[in-house]
Amino acid sequence: MSQPLKIALAGLGTVGGGVAKLLLSRKEELSARAGRALELVAVGARDRTKPRAVDLSSLTWFGDAVALASCDADVVIELIGGEEGPARRLVEAALRAGRHVVTANKALLAHHGLELAQIAERQNVSLRFEAAVAGGIPIVKALRESLIAYGINAVRGILNGTCNYILTQMEASGKSFAEVLREAQSLGYAEADPSLDIGGGDTAHKLALLSALAFGVAPRLGQIHTEGIAHITPDDIRFAREFGFRIKLLGMARQTANGLDQRVQPAMVRAGTPLADVEGPFNAILADAGEAGPFFFEGRGAGEAPTASAVIADLVDIARGTHGAPFGRPAADLKSGAGEAPDRVSAYYLRFEVLDLPGVLAEIAGRLAEAEVSIESMIQRGRSPGEPVAIVMITHECAQSRVTDALKVIATSDKVLGSPCMIPMEAA
Ligand code: HSE
Repeated sequence: MSQPLKIALAGLGTVGGGVAKLLLSRKEELSARAGRALELVAVGARDRTKPRAVDLSSLTWFGDAVALASCDADVVIELIGGEEGPARRLVEAALRAGRHVVTANKALLAHHGLELAQIAERQNVSLRFEAAVAGGIPIVKALRESLIAYGINAVRGILNGTCNYILTQMEASGKSFAEVLREAQSLGYAEADPSLDIGGGDTAHKLALLSALAFGVAPRLGQIHTEGIAHITPDDIRFAREFGFRIKLLGMARQTANGLDQRVQPAMVRAGTPLADVEGPFNAILADAGEAGPFFFEGRGAGEAPTASAVIADLVDIARGTHGAPFGRPAADLKSGAGEAPDRVSAYYLRFEVLDLPGVLAEIAGRLAEAEVSIESMIQRGRSPGEPVAIVMITHECAQSRVTDALKVIATSDKVLGSPCMIPMEAA
């Protein structure tokens, strides 16, 4: 066997602890698969006295994780998290010092991926991030290496387990978003501050990385139209079921005649199709790889073992000497892309909360007609005159901007309560 691969690990939380445990308890098997010894030599975490699942006493300990960049290691694993602060300082310093880096940090890469890829290339070292998207699902490697022959037309994914868990629970229980979120927090399925998950930001970080791999664009969050799930009501979920759909928060990137369309949006996904059937905290990605066909990946997108598994996959590649540009193309070739996402053409589900008064339906239909939005079907279940009632419509395919323009006008009506809800209908 050749020289051992010396590894320094920054961050000993759930995933970091799992990686340390694997590197120590399965050292022989993993080293055999890597073709050289995988040797954990140093760890960086603030609290040395905290009980750990594995004995780390023989390793060099750094209270300041950033200092790991200058220790005698070939690879630094960054599992601190956060787009700035110590994570960014460590990754930059480690790359500049000529060390390979493995990270699970999607926020860091979505904000600074281009510049970090440039440093890695200059230093001729690897920057690997399989664990940053969809936990244990090997989608980064698939898009970077395995599915390149015919190019990628579209990538659609359920990339946030918290949102998928909440939507699945809302459907199963009929409870409101707020109630299910509270329950998810008390069970530890949602963070105390869930805003990055439920607002779509975490999905956007992951989508930026998938787009870079699939379409050769530099990660740019500003080009991703991003919505969350907090406005989805039990009514929307019930109506979706009546129409034969389920609501999923999707990250979607696809080539269109007007450029690359990148979106994070709740979408109506036809029941019985692979993405619609993804339940609870699972993640899934559907990649349309042209003539090679569609490929569907599903698995655990978070947690100790799936994420640690992805980190080990990257380490084994590095140990074998498999290098290559972080995003599968030289950083100089990554396109910067145009400003905002192009206008999207789709059918739309629309829900209006209205006062059940004469003329309200005609007013809504009239505004939609003015914007040249054509209605395919409609449901209204009246309660009593003058009381709030939901009107639901499905439109024919049309540009999203036409629908949003019409909704802005409709929302100003004194018979329409709150903001209308608009959800694109996904093709199968
Ligand atoms: N918070 C994420 C999720 C996992 O709920 O899927 C880490 O990105």
